[in-house]
Amino acid sequence: MTPLSTARPVRTADGRPLAWSRLSILLHWLVVVLIVVQSVAADSMEALFDATYEGGPLSGLDRALGWTHIVCGSAILAAMAARLADRLLVGRPPHDAGDPALAVRLARVTHALLYALLLAMPVLGLLAWITGEEAFADLHTLLWTPLLVLVALHVAGALAQQFWFRTDALRRMARLRR
Ligand code: HEM
Ligand code: HEM
Repeated sequence: MTPLSTARPVRTADGRPLAWSRLSILLHWLVVVLIVVQSVAADSMEALFDATYEGGPLSGLDRALGWTHIVCGSAILAAMAARLADRLLVGRPPHDAGDPALAVRLARVTHALLYALLLAMPVLGLLAWITGEEAFADLHTLLWTPLLVLVALHVAGALAQQFWFRTDALRRMARLRR
């Protein structure tokens, strides 16, 4: 199988990479930035959605930010699909041997849910936008709070690994040069 990234990470004896692929690292931080953009543009998206399907006035700023929401949200969908494919083809580096088993399990669940939400949210957003169905829009919006909770948990975990367990996890996710 051909990995999606051009980098050839060194592998462990059982064939797992010792580092994140360059593609994974770049897409991880791109998605972080895009989620911040999404939160800023969310209210304008609601205004654009309402104006499109119910009529009424729409400011130029709301139109521009609304379309930004659509473009950046679709980019998140593409980025997460590419990351998932890269993850399935290349694999991920093993968790640090010093990490407590419970922390590793929590990290696995958090990561899986982050993937699920970041694929489901843009799909529901696109369905709402294409069909105009309020039900899709409601589901889309409903997932925002769980996403924020997961991100908070995830960041707390990353900081705990860095400053408490003193593992290499954060450096591994931040280092493009090897
Ligand atoms: C992971 C990516 C995305 C995130 C985190 C996100 C986040 C949000 C949030 C927080 C809102 C609520 C706005 C509010 O109630 O003030 C919203 C609304 C909306 N988003 Fe997204 N969005 C994403 C992707 C998309 C995409 C790709 C589309 C496609 C067009 C989209 C379409 C919509 C629509 C139509 C609404 C209005 C829903 C309504 O009025 O009830 N979103 N989005
Ligand atoms: C919107 C915010 C974020 C999202 C959606 C997100 C998402 C993810 C996902 C899905 C993974 C798992 C990768 C995989 O298993 O394939 C991951 C890994 C990671 N993230 Fe984030 N992340 C975010 C913000 C951050 C921030 C702010 C930090 C640093 C403080 C961070 C540090 C890490 C680290 C160190 C890993 C690797 C963990 C490990 O080796 O087990 N992330 N992130």
